[in-house]
Amino acid sequence: MLESIPLISGTLFAAVFGSPVAHGKIISLDVSAAESMPGVKRIFTYKDIPGKNQIGGIVPDEPLLAEDEVHFDGMPVALVVAETQEIAHAAVKKIKIDIEKHTVITDPRIAQANGSLIVPPRTFKMGDSTKAFKDCVHIFEGTAETNGQEHLYIETQGAYAIPAENSSLKVYSSTQGPTAVQRHMAAVLGISMHRLEIDTVRLGGGFGGKEDQATSWAIFCALAAWHLKKPVKYSLHRMEDMRMTGKRNPYSSDFKIGLNADLKIIAYEATFYQNAGAAADLSPAVLERTLFHCTNSYFVPNVSATAYCCRTNLPPNTAFRGFGGPQGMFVIEAAIAKAADALGITAAEIQQKNLLNTGDEFPYGQKAVSEASACWNKAVDLYQVQKIKNEINSFNATNSLYKKGISFMPICFGISFTKILMNQARALVHVYMDGSVNVSTGAVEMGQGVNTKMLQVAATIFSIDTNKVRINSTNTYRIANTSPSAASATADLNGKAVQIACEKILLRLKQSAAEIFKTEPAVIDIKDERILVHNQLTDMTWNDLVIATYLKRISLSEHGHYATPGIHFDNTIEKGHPFAYHVYGTAITTVTVDCIRGIYEVDAVRLVHDFGTTMNPIIDRGQIEGGLVQGIGWMTMEEIVYDKEGKLRSNALSTYKVPDIYSVPKNLDIHFLETANDNLAIFRSKAVGEPPLMYGIGTYFALRNAIKAFNPKTAIAFSAPMTPEKVLMGLYSHMERAEHIHKTSVGEQLIPD
Ligand code: MOS
Repeated sequence: MLESIPLISGTLFAAVFGSPVAHGKIISLDVSAAESMPGVKRIFTYKDIPGKNQIGGIVPDEPLLAEDEVHFDGMPVALVVAETQEIAHAAVKKIKIDIEKHTVITDPRIAQANGSLIVPPRTFKMGDSTKAFKDCVHIFEGTAETNGQEHLYIETQGAYAIPAENSSLKVYSSTQGPTAVQRHMAAVLGISMHRLEIDTVRLGGGFGGKEDQATSWAIFCALAAWHLKKPVKYSLHRMEDMRMTGKRNPYSSDFKIGLNADLKIIAYEATFYQNAGAAADLSPAVLERTLFHCTNSYFVPNVSATAYCCRTNLPPNTAFRGFGGPQGMFVIEAAIAKAADALGITAAEIQQKNLLNTGDEFPYGQKAVSEASACWNKAVDLYQVQKIKNEINSFNATNSLYKKGISFMPICFGISFTKILMNQARALVHVYMDGSVNVSTGAVEMGQGVNTKMLQVAATIFSIDTNKVRINSTNTYRIANTSPSAASATADLNGKAVQIACEKILLRLKQSAAEIFKTEPAVIDIKDERILVHNQLTDMTWNDLVIATYLKRISLSEHGHYATPGIHFDNTIEKGHPFAYHVYGTAITTVTVDCIRGIYEVDAVRLVHDFGTTMNPIIDRGQIEGGLVQGIGWMTMEEIVYDKEGKLRSNALSTYKVPDIYSVPKNLDIHFLETANDNLAIFRSKAVGEPPLMYGIGTYFALRNAIKAFNPKTAIAFSAPMTPEKVLMGLYSHMERAEHIHKTSVGEQLIPD
């Protein structure tokens, strides 16, 4: 979005000097060589902060600029402002720092053992798992690891701050949370929020990476603009962004699962070690969602799950599509796969038997209104699963160098911010005297199509052409105290606020029309910009009615406020009804593994997804496709590597592989399941932002099954991503690779179609 804001002449450019070591005490900082470079305007340190040097959202543990200690490689220490971006970057390289190095911790289990937790551990409990394990016929234990994930929004982090009238600032920020930026900026500058107009036009992607972590870059620009009285812009270089910003939280987890003779999961225990990085950021909230989703789409009567938020010397990890849910779901899927292996059955047999039914209780007390079996059964029928299985079996029986695998991945994802107070939104709607409509909300457009949905809401309520409606940028002067665009809840919350505002105006328009037609408002309708009385068309148009209403001095503007009803959660007992509703679905994934090279292809993902009733199938399909491929990337190829010194080694796209067009499943079938149960979604069109990412977990388990088809005794660990290297190790974990190739008959089909 920053590239679409015209540059004001005299604009200065910023760049941050980040700590070259991951943990230590600053002995000295020398900026003199940098400061004397031609074109450098000024270098700022924490000493230049007029207010508080603090940007922590949940826990106040994150300085904007380091004072005497550094906690991660790349932690901002100084801010250079210069006439050009090139000079600013060149000056950063001339800053010298002397740091006394301290021990670097990158492993969350070590951090937990040292007692280095950001918040106290949380435990969700239902029933009595200790007792229940005694009644289980089958008990399996293990560990599972999931790595982080780089957000890789196409637009890197950035902001543009412009001094404005009367000691105020206008700041264009590439953020999912304009109010978070405004609030922390006010605290850092030591001024009131009303002096800060944060404007967000649209983002080149967010994926959670700009829910909290856009804030510091906006404040850097604001700090410099405040002191220098000049516009200041900063768009991060990709490698700065990758080095200095946090990612999806990696997790290391332990599980114990117990089943009865009928394959019902009777007991489940899990311990999650979340790698939070050097500051809380959103990790405590991410941790909570891991617990909410630790049993995925299954009913388990006896559960005990504990999660640790572990402080390490990595950049603060943060929100990423799914927000801890995928990390929790991977672990129970691993537990089920382990049980299935040991019992010599498919995971699907266990999964299908344990799907949630309506009325079943989640470990956090809410009762399910379940579409789990509806999605699963529809997928089995629609995609003719038995036929697919037969094809795979015959392929595997006749090919020894290539093997296919299949997996089922049911999902269940709760919609609402888990922090109850955040489930509120506002919208400002103006109808102008020419009949055009202007809508502002707290929703941030980041490619997910929320502006289109907001436009649909206004156009539908008024029954006018969408060309008559304009959606504004998200701006803290128009809409105050916004929740970030996150938690898949943006269209619901802001859409309901738009609906409320439009309905209030509509009622006044109908009252106005009723006066004109000397009748009751209840018999007035507006359809396709025409006014109807008793369902009879009149000559009056939308435009006529609008101007007539204006002439009567009736307000054509409204501010709508929406707060999700019925949700509550008591975290002293970890029970409540935190979600407005759940989204369900089932994906069936088939893959082919090349058993010599370890490389693979996703042949097909066929899924059935619970949409309620979609209000925009094109946008929703796009969200499913994008989320799925992003999930496949996380599960298969995206491998974040920090060395023991806490330095990011996968710090560019040459060393960090992300999905491309060839990673998209060759077949991708999406069935829109209309579900009839009532929900609190806008126009009953269920949230679709995050849930589809979790279908990607199915690819991991399909690959695992293909490896097992080749090597039934494989000792492959539950460790994502399943890179080709890991596939290769799994394929040959009990035999010599060369020996196997030697034994394979020549002339076999090498490239399966
Ligand atoms: Mo999203 S991961 O809730 O910003």
